[in-house]
Amino acid sequence: MQDKETSRRGFIGLLVIAYSSIALYVGGALVSFLRFLFPYAIYEPPQKFKVGKPEDYPIGTITLITGRGLWIGSYSEGFAGLIAKCTHLGCKPNWFPLKDGPLGQGIFECPCHGSKYDKYARNFAGPAPFPLRRAKLSLAPDGRLEVDKTEVLEPKVKIKDGIEIDETKMEEFFLKV
Ligand code: FES
Repeated sequence: MQDKETSRRGFIGLLVIAYSSIALYVGGALVSFLRFLFPYAIYEPPQKFKVGKPEDYPIGTITLITGRGLWIGSYSEGFAGLIAKCTHLGCKPNWFPLKDGPLGQGIFECPCHGSKYDKYARNFAGPAPFPLRRAKLSLAPDGRLEVDKTEVLEPKVKIKDGIEIDETKMEEFFLKV
């Protein structure tokens, strides 16, 4: 009698374990499925943003906009939003205002493989294939400069018959205020 009782309890215990395992398995699969329906969101800073008034950027300055991967270049021709990403393999170049370049003082230099860009961000040394890209700049109704990194201007340089031809129309790359 005792033995029968013991084996029944054992059987019920096994059933409980089996059902619990199945419930855990099904629950886990359900949770995985729900996670699949609601994927993790990746939050990036907005690609359209304001960077201050034109008078904040005196002519001849190159100003890094921290956390935005962008410099505001202020030239006599206008303003340019220079994307801080080397056109070789994407490292972040540094701006050296006192180093001599082909267009006077100031060059960008990439720390990865040594590409160099003049103060207008045109490549002149190293493996970078073309100038730094430009983000679209406009003047917002409140009088501040607005950057739109979803619209990127790509300076064109091509090699024809062994000669480098720069088709960049620089005037298209400046915001005149
Ligand atoms: S990534 Fe800039 S030179 Fe290679």
